[in-house]
Amino acid sequence: MHPDLLNYLACPKCGGELRVTRGALDNGHVEEGELACQGCPARYAVRNGIPRMIAALNGESARGADDRVDLTVSQYSAYQGEVYAPMAESLQNEAILKARTGLDAWDYKDKVCLDAGCGIGRFSRVMARAGARRVIALDAGDSIDAAKKLTDPALPVSFVQGHILELPLKKGCIDRAISIGVLHHTAHPENGFRSIAKAVAEDGTLSIYLYTRAYVPWHKVASVPFWQIRFALWSEPLRRLIVRLPNTPRLAFCKALYVIRMKVLEPLKRAGAPGRFLTRMLQLFLLPDIYKPLENAASNIARNFDAYSTPYNYNHELEELVDWFATEPGFNELRVTPYRLSITGWKNSAAAPDEPLRVTLHRARSIAALEADGVEHQPAA
Ligand SMILES: C[S@@+](CC[C@H](N)C(=O)[O-])C[C@H]1O[C@@H](n2cnc3c(N)ncnc32)[C@H](O)[C@@H]1O
Ligand SMILES: [Zn+2]
Repeated sequence: MHPDLLNYLACPKCGGELRVTRGALDNGHVEEGELACQGCPARYAVRNGIPRMIAALNGESARGADDRVDLTVSQYSAYQGEVYAPMAESLQNEAILKARTGLDAWDYKDKVCLDAGCGIGRFSRVMARAGARRVIALDAGDSIDAAKKLTDPALPVSFVQGHILELPLKKGCIDRAISIGVLHHTAHPENGFRSIAKAVAEDGTLSIYLYTRAYVPWHKVASVPFWQIRFALWSEPLRRLIVRLPNTPRLAFCKALYVIRMKVLEPLKRAGAPGRFLTRMLQLFLLPDIYKPLENAASNIARNFDAYSTPYNYNHELEELVDWFATEPGFNELRVTPYRLSITGWKNSAAAPDEPLRVTLHRARSIAALEADGVEHQPAA
């Protein structure tokens, strides 16, 4: 743990200052040790150079902001550490981050950056390589250790195991905060948004990417309640059971979904009207998979494993995210990118307080095309 990190860390319980009480080396770094809060009795372990800032990881009850934190920490992180890490670095992560945030590489130069829900840290490394002063890579899950392992120690990235709903950071200390594909996996996405927003400094930015609700064509709107009932009574309860399976059978299930897709559903769909009808009938009972025809097997299986590993899997509307920004003090400019659902909010100190919220749309190459380019370089699983 770089000593510089103490300038940004705060106790997640009371917001108090932290002090190294065990394990400091001569250069101030801590590999194995302990941090103690100056405002309350809380203590946090440092293991593998990473402060573990979640009460449940320090022998306390997980009940609080999120009583399913254990599933995020272990089960969901398996996706990051085992299934996703091998392919993540070959994706066009620079271009993907730019498309999602509307920010350029130079926007990170000399800035203090936060990657909230960093997974295996692919975007933390992008910001560090772009010249960030310090990047705080934060994740609740065990994937934080995988993130550290994948990162060149010469880059200014500090790793923190922390929970977004009890963010272990001082208020207003971050210039560039990103949270890409994360808040919809937390117990309370709006609270998570507000928690990160408070850490953003004046003239700082916050970039959020959320899963969006599936688009329903107008001629199918009448049948939506049926799909909602099916979701509430069938697919979501089963998904929640599957999330609790150990990693190996869960991965096997996700591979089976992919095999059914490729060997049964896709050939049937091509077999004329009766085939398409049969596909629909089968899909009434099968659990939903995520299938991107342009991507290879490994990528599609990883997408399934993501969807069946997280305890929470919400979907959001554009209006909802705009509303969060509009009602959070300090944000007066929103940069919307065409890839739903991503927005960068700016705390622009030059804007007058009564000025209307300014919203601009930024052009960017389709993310689907970018990601397909990236994963095509991977051998099929
Ligand atoms: C879909 S992954 C995205 C990872 C990364 N941002 C990327 O795009 O590669 C979601 C990540 O959010 C993390 N996460 C979920 N809930 C969290 C929480 N409450 N606090 C911090 N991280 C959380 C998970 O552990 C997981 O690594
Ligand atoms: Zn405290």
